[in-house]
Amino acid sequence: MIIIRTIPELKEAIGKVRSMGRTIGFVPTMGYLHQGHLSLVKAAVKECDFVAVSIYVNPIQFGVGEDFESYPRDLTADAQMCQQEGVDLIFSPGDQDMYPGGYASFVEVEQLTQGLCGRGRPGHFRGVTTVVTKLFNLLEPDIAYFGQKDAQQALVLKKMVEDLNMNLTLKIMPTLRDEDGLAMSSRNVYLSLEEREAALVLFKSLTRAEEMIQGGVRKASKISGAMKEIIAGEPSAHLEYIEIVDTHKLDTMEELEAEVLIALAVRVGQTRLIDNMIVEV
Ligand code: PAJ
Repeated sequence: MIIIRTIPELKEAIGKVRSMGRTIGFVPTMGYLHQGHLSLVKAAVKECDFVAVSIYVNPIQFGVGEDFESYPRDLTADAQMCQQEGVDLIFSPGDQDMYPGGYASFVEVEQLTQGLCGRGRPGHFRGVTTVVTKLFNLLEPDIAYFGQKDAQQALVLKKMVEDLNMNLTLKIMPTLRDEDGLAMSSRNVYLSLEEREAALVLFKSLTRAEEMIQGGVRKASKISGAMKEIIAGEPSAHLEYIEIVDTHKLDTMEELEAEVLIALAVRVGQTRLIDNMIVEV
């Protein structure tokens, strides 16, 4: 496995892989890897000849006052995990490599980025779509892997690939959870023991919503009401949003039909957590 820090070195390495006709699988990450990330890596290793992982905490997807500076970083541990999984290349550039002075180009997906996390984090998805486009151009993947954990991000990136005729396939992999249901996230390290316990309200409220739908409830307001009650029962948890939307356009639904995405963001102490579930109606 090679660790590459600069763009010229990356271009040389990718050029060689391409000239050998090998398929490239790519897993973009911000590092501090956990089993959720590694599930994407495992799929890539299974399906592609050459697997690249990017580890880059992308400053332009963080808003003012968000956790860019404190975001956990541990390239040594990440590299060890990648090596064990059979990754061929890690790309971990610096901010000056990605956004040198005078940088001026951005990629923006409209509509899908307005609701859910887009409302509370203006500019976030513009930062994501911009960095992912740059990474796709640099790594030239055949298949890129993303997690359903970030449901809106996955949809936005799919739309970007489709709209801009990008020549690759996106695969969206299921959310990996700890045994008690908490979705794995690099940000879970911020949680104290008590907060870790309180953070279970995300999964509990999603599970309750699923049960209600399976039990025949079709009114979105009734379901979100029950979810809000569960979250309100945990004093350190503060709801940012609950959205019950269709799985393609993320349009709000009042009367549920077909398949719905139930997504929420909750602040537990200082930590912002997101989770979601797709439920068949
Ligand atoms: P990051 O939060 O590091 O996540 C990298 C990838 O891992 C994303 O596709 C995310 O959805 C997936 N992932 C995270 N937790 C997961 C879990 N519990 N189960 C399954 N997959 C999980 O998402 C980003 O980084 C960035 O926005 C990025 C796309 C790299 C652009 O900077």
